[in-house]
Amino acid sequence: MDAFRAANRANWDDRAALHATDKTGMYGIAAVLAGRSCLHPVDRAGIGDVTGLRVAHLQCHIGLDTLSLAHLGASPVGLDFSPNAVAAARDFASRAGRPDVSFVEADVYAARQALSGDFDLVYVTWGAINWLPDIGRWAAVAASLLRPGGRLFLAETHPSALVLDEVDGRIEARFSWRTAADAPIATDDETSYTGDPRPIANTRNYEWIHPLSVILGGVLDAGLRLVRFQEHETLPYRLYPSMVPADRDEDGRVITYRLPDGAVRFPLSFSLTAEKPA
Ligand SMILES: C[S@@+](CC[C@H](N)C(=O)[O-])C[C@H]1O[C@@H](n2cnc3c(N)ncnc32)[C@H](O)[C@@H]1O
Repeated sequence: MDAFRAANRANWDDRAALHATDKTGMYGIAAVLAGRSCLHPVDRAGIGDVTGLRVAHLQCHIGLDTLSLAHLGASPVGLDFSPNAVAAARDFASRAGRPDVSFVEADVYAARQALSGDFDLVYVTWGAINWLPDIGRWAAVAASLLRPGGRLFLAETHPSALVLDEVDGRIEARFSWRTAADAPIATDDETSYTGDPRPIANTRNYEWIHPLSVILGGVLDAGLRLVRFQEHETLPYRLYPSMVPADRDEDGRVITYRLPDGAVRFPLSFSLTAEKPA
């Protein structure tokens, strides 16, 4: 494992332990344990009816979306490289009464070897591809998991939003629009983005910003056919401090954020569906 990936895994292991015992409400743990879905509106609209579908959920973190997919009638398997994330996901599956949902510990680039069979849907959302240096390789793995006629669903932060940061209340360009594979953006986060004050021990993490053309090009070069591409004005997390709640679930938990009233609008996220030709 290269040094960037090893640092990210240690960082995600720490975050997974915090997120599995989250008290901030950022993760819909209670809803999922009660048999409900915590999927975001963009995801629900993007995947449609998943009843009976075999789903590979890549970078599944603590498994809450994986279990939500099961609650919606799919047969999902979750994959993540963090041992703590996979352990938490298995614990949630048992507490949610879903021992049929399995979780696999593996690097996403090794997903084809780690998962058996072909899938109707490969599901990848919110904070996944920014941890990966090579999008072409990722897209080829996603395509290799699909049966002919199967679909990839991807929902992510928009690269146009990732290059910006909020400094003293002003949104300004901070990062280059493309990150070289061997020179990722290095960050040290003392705490997680949930707002939980508990410290992270392994603070260092490495990320990549991938241009939209690289993401779309990777998907097309992997032999998939683009079925749908959309841009959205919401995100499931607060990318900039001035963002405000946009949607809440039935428990009053904030599930999406938007730019404040009066701010110049730009896309915060995108989603796409791409199909493997039959
Ligand atoms: C922000 S979380 C993704 C959230 C996810 N969409 C969900 O359902 O909650 C990012 C996840 O990617 C995982 N990850 C990062 N790099 C990875 C890699 N190379 N292979 C597998 N998992 C990876 C981390 O362990 C973490 O759980």
